[in-house]
Amino acid sequence: MSTQYLLLLGTGGTIAGLAMDTQKPLNYVAGQLPVEGLLEQVQESLEFGEVRTVQVANIDSRNMTEELLVKLGWAVKAGLENDEVSGIVITHGTDTMEETGVFLHATLGKLASHYKKAVVLTGAMLPANADHSDGQTNLKSALYLAKEARGLQQFGILAVMAGKPCLARDLSKQHTHALDALVVNARELDGPIHKRQADLQLPAQASWPWVEIVTSHAGASGKLVDMLVAQGVQGIVVAGTGQGSVNKVLADQLIQAALNGVAVIRSSRVGAGAVFSEIPEPDTAWNWLSARDLNPAKSRIALQLALLEANSRKTDDWQSIFATI
Ligand code: SIN
Repeated sequence: MSTQYLLLLGTGGTIAGLAMDTQKPLNYVAGQLPVEGLLEQVQESLEFGEVRTVQVANIDSRNMTEELLVKLGWAVKAGLENDEVSGIVITHGTDTMEETGVFLHATLGKLASHYKKAVVLTGAMLPANADHSDGQTNLKSALYLAKEARGLQQFGILAVMAGKPCLARDLSKQHTHALDALVVNARELDGPIHKRQADLQLPAQASWPWVEIVTSHAGASGKLVDMLVAQGVQGIVVAGTGQGSVNKVLADQLIQAALNGVAVIRSSRVGAGAVFSEIPEPDTAWNWLSARDLNPAKSRIALQLALLEANSRKTDDWQSIFATI
């Protein structure tokens, strides 16, 4: 019988970052140490059994691309389908971890649950060589969670930061530098995990629908919407104020865009809470939909995936698909 192992996928981030001067930890470059080096820092006790590493990328996550998300997604899928892999940990920059979280949740969350495996994202707020860096503790927590998922009954796409496990979909970064900058919005692990029957298709290619985020603010002109529509944008996420309210000038432009076939998601720039529609959803007449608890960045990824899925199912009803993420 073959022995099982944990798969550790490295993508970079501050957890793999190095400060030039360890006394000035905020002055660092992300994505420097190889994932093998991160494992060496925590593996002294071998309490996680065998761990094998794959370097998927070594970047600052602000530079995450659709191409790289596709590459990561297929690496995760291969790990889930491999009987020898008992769980998967992904080291990732914290700046866009929530976007990768919603991507993996939508495309591989059901598969992970099917195989009763955990895929755990983790990262760090301080670089690897800083005094009191949080990376090693976070990595140990993630390896522990991935290894013990069966016992803990925690399957799917998870994340752990600062000792707090959650569904990766529910995570968002809400502080620029605090060690507990990543917080859980709306739902905890024991909440409803997957509303959809099946995963959305894992994109095979890196050319995703063009979706932009536009912010509503005092003095909005709406000109940005006109420019985007003229250039052929396929979707717009509006980061509204408060509960997703949109400046009237901007709203008029967005209604026009939606009438012209652009998919519009109404979310909130506030950073916590949810945006609900007062009108029944999906509102196909306006081509608008409310983001619920997905923030603008997560809504953007979810809208891209919903548009891709709608295209492959040959339907215009992207709203029903978005609503399941
Ligand atoms: C990054 O997202 O790659 C840099 C910031 C971080 O990991 O905290």
